[in-house]
Amino acid sequence: MGQLDGTVAVITGGASGMGLASAQRFVAEDARVVIADLNVEAGERAVAELGSAARFIRCDVSVEADVASTVSLAVEAFGRLDVMFNNAGIGGAFGPITEIDVDDWDATFGVLVRSVFLGTKYAARVMIEQGDGGSIINTASVAGQSGGNGPQAYSAAKAAVINLSQTTALELAAHHIRVNAICPGLIFTPLMHAGDEAHAEGLMRELQPWPERGEGSDIAGAALWLAGPDSRFVSGESITVDGAITAAGTRLFGKLSGTQNLHRMTGMAHGTTGLPATVRRLDD
Ligand SMILES: NC(=O)c1ccc[n+]([C@@H]2O[C@H](COP(=O)([O-])OP(=O)(O)OC[C@H]3O[C@@H](n4cnc5c(N)ncnc54)[C@H](O)[C@@H]3O)[C@@H](O)[C@H]2O)c1
Repeated sequence: MGQLDGTVAVITGGASGMGLASAQRFVAEDARVVIADLNVEAGERAVAELGSAARFIRCDVSVEADVASTVSLAVEAFGRLDVMFNNAGIGGAFGPITEIDVDDWDATFGVLVRSVFLGTKYAARVMIEQGDGGSIINTASVAGQSGGNGPQAYSAAKAAVINLSQTTALELAAHHIRVNAICPGLIFTPLMHAGDEAHAEGLMRELQPWPERGEGSDIAGAALWLAGPDSRFVSGESITVDGAITAAGTRLFGKLSGTQNLHRMTGMAHGTTGLPATVRRLDD
């Protein structure tokens, strides 16, 4: 019996990338899954591969009626809803802040934030009615944790997703509905490499301490844990899945003068006390 036996999940953006990897993993763990996506061809291809445990619905996650229909389909097809994975996304508006078109800004927030509001609204209604809890998982990003990791609208929208996950976690806790965010780093999906895998590999090697690239299946693993009973007491959390990119920060240590060769020696520095440092060279 799989870890998600008896579980019904909706995965938005489930036709590609980490959403597709999550749909595949969830079905392999005996869940039944509704894939909701704008890309009809890719969505239909995905459910054809996944078989009778999966359904596809064309859905624009920024449109209220589409999200409502998606949640209804899960209940009609599979009888209930346990997991709502609000994952669909785009890069959105980009360019200098002085030039960005206001409609592009709003559309970005529509796909990245309004979608999470709508997914939470309709999923929580069903989960509250069922009376036995649920798990809502929202894909944010390391771009929402600081400046510098994405365009302005994208980063601000992902920061909003992190906060919305916290506020709704508080509100829904009494119903045993958990709400958490996943913050991926560089994950090799069509959205990230945009067809230029070599460039993306190079970027990864430059920025990411972990030697192998992040795959959709790495996000699927985090989502599986958040969907299942082992994370029963985890809510309002954002889980960073990034091969230690965030942990590395700007990596000043090793660049500041005097720190470049510290991996070749060990000892104790006494700062400006006047006491001499003890130093043992490791290659001596
Ligand atoms: N790949 C990364 O490195 C990375 C890093 C951090 C966060 N993310 C986030 O992860 C999520 C998934 O991205 P991915 O990398 O798997 O990308 P992807 O492009 O492979 O998949 C995204 C899916 O979302 C769908 N989608 C886009 N807009 C939609 C809409 N309005 N309604 C319904 N479906 C829509 C697309 O058709 C596609 O199938 C996104 O929220 C993205 O912002 C990605």
